[in-house]
Amino acid sequence: VQKTVFLSRIFPKLATQLLEGAGFKVISWDKEYPMPYEQLTKAVKDCDALFCTLTDKIDSAFLNTCSHLDIITQFAVGYDNIDINEATKLKIPIGYAPNAMTEATADVAFGLMIATARKMFFMNQKIKDGKWSHFDPIGHLGLELKGKTLGILGLGRIGMAMAKRCKGAYDMEILYHNRSVNKRAEKELGAGFVDFDTLVSQSDVISVHCALTPETQGIFNKVVFKRMKPSSLFINTARGGVHNEKDLIDALNKGNIWGAGLDVTNPEPMKPNNPLLLMENVCVLPHIGSATITARNEMARMGARNIISFYEKGNVPNIVNPDVLK
Ligand code: GLV
Ligand code: GLV
Repeated sequence: VQKTVFLSRIFPKLATQLLEGAGFKVISWDKEYPMPYEQLTKAVKDCDALFCTLTDKIDSAFLNTCSHLDIITQFAVGYDNIDINEATKLKIPIGYAPNAMTEATADVAFGLMIATARKMFFMNQKIKDGKWSHFDPIGHLGLELKGKTLGILGLGRIGMAMAKRCKGAYDMEILYHNRSVNKRAEKELGAGFVDFDTLVSQSDVISVHCALTPETQGIFNKVVFKRMKPSSLFINTARGGVHNEKDLIDALNKGNIWGAGLDVTNPEPMKPNNPLLLMENVCVLPHIGSATITARNEMARMGARNIISFYEKGNVPNIVNPDVLK
């Protein structure tokens, strides 16, 4: 019998093309905003598989109500919106899309680092506000990055791509803190594994590339920002929940850190009246790390492949909880 896949958002057309090409029936939410929780619960009732993303709350209650789902696959590399333990208990495989956005997201982290160091977003706003009156010999000053120390929290694929950029462009020294030692980074980039406190106190630029978990939730708080160098930059392209926003604002106001570049906020979307948006040394983007044509198509392809491969061969090429298939 024909299987039905529900798409919780309008995903790249490629997802539907691949699924329909493999004989699936595809039903998609047709609004550009996320589907309300209750509605999604009802919508998947008569479907077999769900293709969702980080704006969907796939919590324990959802999973138990929708335990008939054969497979769920996530249009993202991060999956903190999904209760993986519960899905595993219910034997629902959870697919995801690692690798697809590695280069795209590292580009945003690297770009935010430079933009923040040179106050680019603020300077651009100045022109738009009609406040550019002359070349200023002593104003508009930023920081240089050559030879500085980059501290990476979470040295996986994206962290590695960021480290490579910083090494290549600025010969930066690379420190990292991670769940495990990254031998390749140590060998290829001379990266040094340090404890979290050392990472925070020794780095000129901190770039966050870890997953949002109970351990990393709010890990960048008041105490940690105080330990950072007053000349340092905080760059977060991972998840907004990793930093405490109020503490970040305080740290910037007090000069505990020099600047911040954020592609992720907490909550998302950030409200337009957020004080961070008025700060000279802050650059904020609306979660565009994976927003390239290449990355988004690859994310669509990976999700479709996870579903197709699950039904055709009983395996999921990119899976978070492989034990459920044993
Ligand atoms: C985007 O934030 C992702 O996790 O892929
Ligand atoms: C600045 O524009 C310079 O040429 O140094």
